[in-house]
This record gives sequence, structure tokens and C-alpha cells, in this order.
Amino acid sequence: MSILERSAFAPNFQLGVATSSYQIEGAVAEDGRAPSIWDTFTHTPGKIKDGSNGDVACDHYHRMQEDVALMGWLGVDAYRFSIAWPRVLPRGKGSVNERGLDFYERLVDALLERGIAPCATLYHWDLPDALMAEGGWLSRSTAEAFAEYTALVAARLGDRVALWLTHNEPWCQAFLGYENGLFAPGQRDLGQALTCAHQLLVSHGLAVQALRSHVRSPVGIAPNFMPVHPATQSPLDRAAAARQDGYFNRWFIEPVLGRGYPADMVELYAEHMPRFPHTDLALISQPIDVVGVNYYERCIVGHQEDGGMLKIRRVKTSDLPRTADREIYAPGLFEILERLHREYSIPRLVITENGAASRADEAVVDGRVNDAVRVDFLREHLEQVIRAQKSGIPVDGYFAWSLMDNFEWSEGYSLRYGIVHVDFETQARVPKDSAHFIRSLSRRAAG
Ligand code: FCB
Repeated sequence: MSILERSAFAPNFQLGVATSSYQIEGAVAEDGRAPSIWDTFTHTPGKIKDGSNGDVACDHYHRMQEDVALMGWLGVDAYRFSIAWPRVLPRGKGSVNERGLDFYERLVDALLERGIAPCATLYHWDLPDALMAEGGWLSRSTAEAFAEYTALVAARLGDRVALWLTHNEPWCQAFLGYENGLFAPGQRDLGQALTCAHQLLVSHGLAVQALRSHVRSPVGIAPNFMPVHPATQSPLDRAAAARQDGYFNRWFIEPVLGRGYPADMVELYAEHMPRFPHTDLALISQPIDVVGVNYYERCIVGHQEDGGMLKIRRVKTSDLPRTADREIYAPGLFEILERLHREYSIPRLVITENGAASRADEAVVDGRVNDAVRVDFLREHLEQVIRAQKSGIPVDGYFAWSLMDNFEWSEGYSLRYGIVHVDFETQARVPKDSAHFIRSLSRRAAG
């Protein structure tokens, strides 16, 4: 196997690690933080596989300095974290919780002291419960509150944050949260999912406007993408793949980039489509500087007459190696980057998440965690980034998901995505072999 070296990447390339607030912070009732929909959801019996929650998670709220020091050791260029809305605005709007803002201010300063670029995501799914009570993402007022929250955070952290991302994976919030109920708030209704998607997009547009009046740093959004391959080349399977692509990939990025909602999908959703003022589309498509790409897997689908509204079935045909939860398909990352570049002429792409899960029993043996599958996963995906750079695709960043094992949403602690192992009893952090691998690619290691 070839050795991957830092010099293989474009000179402006930034290597980072990513996390999100609810998955790592814990301290859910401290220093004025109010509950989010994820607190309520995880405390509802039957929602999380292992019955767990993020009450303590990685206790990062209390161990922030230690975790930043760990990133210093890793030598990463950048850190992508998210801000917990109910920590800074406990009611979602109105009175500000200074102690919450202080936490993120200290985090940003600690990163800057170590030369690590802070990259902030404003929404990684932890909507304040108070806003849920007023209609959540079905209500326009939530989008307006998001703009207020964004302005507040941007005014405080401003250009110390090197990259601002409005939403993480809006598809998950809209469709897992409101269509199939797997995520908070656990609703099951396609019409609601489409309304949520629309308000998320509106809130993105409003947030971009708010950011522009406070910061000069680049602004973007971080949707998840997956290449969709038809099970066969039959016209029926190809049409099924196009529908899945519309549902997952095109529904968010096309309105953001000024193309409006994809017409084929609007037709399919007709009776469930929310009504909204036409001017919303202009609001949603504020110019942005970066598209973040969260990439984990591809998807193979075939036509199935009784396969729900999309009339599809997902096919698991491949005998490629797998992580604990998904097929490993690194070329899919290139495929997505190439398509975003070719079809949409996006000026700048950053991989905002990519990573591999192992099971809860992944062990520390003699101070070491042998996670060869993850090392290979990261290497293969980084090689696709180099391939993209060599093909002239403007991709200049890669964030490994995740800095450390954490609360994996509906999977609880049953999956570990970290490059650093966390013992959830003692909170001890142990860098896995994959952390040593990332460190070997750091600028410092490269001299
Ligand atoms: C993504 C999420 C992230 C994490 C990874 C494994 O969908 O954005 O929070 O859970 O999956």
C-alpha cells in the first residue's frame, strides 16, 4: 500500500476533525442551558437503541481545554464544531445566556492559541425545546429566530471563526426528524417533512444575510450527499435512482444554488408540497462561498411498485468491505465532488464530514486501539480528495468525523466514530491508530 503524504495535497489544503454540540458536550442543564428537542427525544423511552442520551456524552463542556490540547497534539489545521442554540438562547430567542456564549468564546480562543482554525456550524439539530413548543421547524417564526440567533453568535465570534456553516445535513432534520421519526422531534408525515425542509432553507437564507452583516469569513452550508446508482440499467431502475437522487441530493442544494426545487420531485410530492411565497426562493439562494460535503456512503436502488412514495427499494448487492454500519465506497466521494463541480459550478468545496464506525466493544489494548479499518477508510477517502484536486475540482478541506467517540443519535453509544477512543465511564481519551495516521499527515509532522 502506498504511503500517503501531506505533500500530495494542494498547498492550501486544510485537514481537520469534526464534532457536534449535543454529541459531545454533556452538561445539558448547566450554566443556563435549556433543553433541546434531542434532550426530550432521548428521554422518551424506545427512541434510542441503547436507551442512552447526551446528558454527559464526552463531558466536553468541562474538558474543552483538554480536548483542544488533543487537537494540538494531532496537529490539525481546523476544527469543525457546532454551537448549541439552547445554550446561548435558552428560549430560542430573546434573553441571551452570556455563560453559554462565553463557552464558545473560550473554545474559539483556545483553538486560535494553538493555530487551529475554528469552523462553526450553527445548527446540528439541537433546536431549543421552547421553539418546538411554538411549532418547531413547521413554523416560520423558527426560521426568524434562527436569524436572530445567528446574528447574536456572529456578532460575538465574528471573524475569529474561519468558516461559518448554517445547517448540518438538513435532509436528516427534515426527513429523519419529520418523515420517518427516527430523529428528534420524531414526527412521521411527509407534508411536515417538506414544510420543515422549506423552513430550514428559509432559515439558511436569513442566516446567510445575518452573517454577511457581521463577518467577512466564508459562509456555507453542509448537506449530506450520496451517489445513487441504479440496481440495473433498466429504464425503471434508472428512473428510481433519479427519484432517490432528487429526494436526497437535489432537494436542498438546488434551491440553495438558485435553481428552485427540482421540478420532477415537486410533481411527485404535489399533494404534500407546502405553499410558500415565491419570494422565498430568492431568500433561500443568497450567494454562498462554500458547500460543505458530508459523505459516508453511496446508495443502490431499484424500482419497486410498493416501495413507498418514491417507489424504490434499496439494494444491498455489493460485497465490498464494510464498517460497523455501512459499505465502504471511497470512489463515491470523488463522484459527488466531481458532480457538484461540473453540474453546479460550486466555487469551493470542503468535506465537512467523512468517517467510519466501529462497534461499542472497540477496545484499548496496552494503551493502543488498532482500528485498521478506519485507517484504511480515511486513507482511501483522502486519496479521492487528492484525485479531485488533481482533476481541478476546488476542494480544499477535509474534516474527519469525528475527533472522538460520541453520542451517535438514535444508535446511542453503540457505534464509535472517533479517531480518539473515549471510555464513557472514566472519560479517558486514547488516540486510536487512526489518530496517529491523521497526525502523520499534519503540517507539523510534514515539517
Ligand atoms: C452524520 C451526522 C453526524 C454523525 C455522523 C456519523 O450524519 O451529521 O452528527 O452522526 O453522521
